[in-house]
Amino acid sequence: MSNKKPKEEIVTDNLSDINIYDPKFSINPFQLYEKLHLNEPIIFLNNSKSWLVTGADIITEICSQPHLFSNDISVLLAGLHSEKPRVKKILEQGLPQVPVLLMSDPPDHSRFRRLVGMAFSGPRINIIESDIRKISNSILNNLDTEIPWDFISEYAIPMPVNVIGGQLGLKKSDINKIRSWSDAFTDRLSGMIDEKREEECAHAVVDFQKTMQRQITLRREYKHDDLLGDLVSASSDGDKPLSNAEIVSIIQQIMVAGNETSTSAMAEGIKLLIENPNQMEFLRQDSSLIKNTVEEILRLASPVAGSWRIATRDVTVSGKKIKKGDRIMLRFAAASRDSSKFNLPNKMNINRQNSKMHFAFGRGIHTCVGSMLARREISICLEHMINKFKTIELTDYNKDHAYNPNVMLRGLEVLNIKTTLKN
Ligand code: HEM
Repeated sequence: MSNKKPKEEIVTDNLSDINIYDPKFSINPFQLYEKLHLNEPIIFLNNSKSWLVTGADIITEICSQPHLFSNDISVLLAGLHSEKPRVKKILEQGLPQVPVLLMSDPPDHSRFRRLVGMAFSGPRINIIESDIRKISNSILNNLDTEIPWDFISEYAIPMPVNVIGGQLGLKKSDINKIRSWSDAFTDRLSGMIDEKREEECAHAVVDFQKTMQRQITLRREYKHDDLLGDLVSASSDGDKPLSNAEIVSIIQQIMVAGNETSTSAMAEGIKLLIENPNQMEFLRQDSSLIKNTVEEILRLASPVAGSWRIATRDVTVSGKKIKKGDRIMLRFAAASRDSSKFNLPNKMNINRQNSKMHFAFGRGIHTCVGSMLARREISICLEHMINKFKTIELTDYNKDHAYNPNVMLRGLEVLNIKTTLKN
């Protein structure tokens, strides 16, 4: 992970010169989003030779036409088909990466979605809720809160990692590796790492694949009552069973999609509440507001800031002529702050009527399959933090807030806080 801490706002005279790979763009793009909404809600960018879409309605339109805008973006993702011989050699020791869910289109996508969707159903999440509560309580009860602590490393990382790890039936020593595996997967997607880190990531990917393969083999021999067991048995029911490589790729995606995102949402949520003390006070006075606070946090945090699509044919969108093969960056974080949908979009308002209309979970067939789980995790996090601590403040160290530079994911690196326990 990078230690770079650029924080200043990105400035550009010509909107088509925006560089989405500039770390500043991941960190403070909000005034730029406003300009784009007003002037160019869909624009071709000279640097990345791709379209940038910030307008809420245009994003909805594109997401509703998967036959025109494909998710099979594997060729775009740095490292996934790395031509660097050393990286390639390491990856050859593992399983081939299969384009599943986020990287697939119908009809394959529909099959993957059915199988994974079953595992993340409402009744299942209700069962998982008691685990989330136990994990959250155990982390908070074991903290030394007499001194300032980093909310991210102490709570927001271990909480979702342990929830997912439990659902995958992993033992403690493997759960401890989940964060470094996930970092390796996301770093490979970032397009912003050097060759040394690419090699480290490739080793982590192979280690993960071998671990999961052992777990899958166990479940092919004996039925296990967990998410991985569900995926293995679901795959043997249909006419096209899931292969080990498909299952491992699905789990890999769930781990990336379900860890860093939830961590970032919880961290940004706590930061937003501290920075908006009147909102924190409303929430403390009326816990029925937690549900909408989660939505407002998701709207403002939008940890999956953007996602790619590829045009499958020449097509005109909002008057712009997109060519077959063109790459399109859908900026969900911008759509969640589109003033045509949200009044005073950059302001936190936990009483906002339409917070839930945010784009944090995307739109269309790829809408987040883990949204119910994520919402439950964030909600329990807020409930426990507010019930346990009388005060929650930022420490001076955070004046220089640092976000991980990543074109798709936006999340804080550290969030040092001071807390005082309730009597
Ligand atoms: C705050 C937390 C989360 C956010 C903001 C988030 C956001 C998103 C977004 C925006 C998409 C759609 C991307 C696109 O259309 O290109 C997505 C898809 C997905 N998410 Fe999440 N997610 C979160 C948590 C989770 C969790 C907890 C899981 C699972 C444990 C998960 C699993 C997935 C999967 C598997 C997909 C792909 C679905 C498909 O392609 O059909 N996510 N997520």
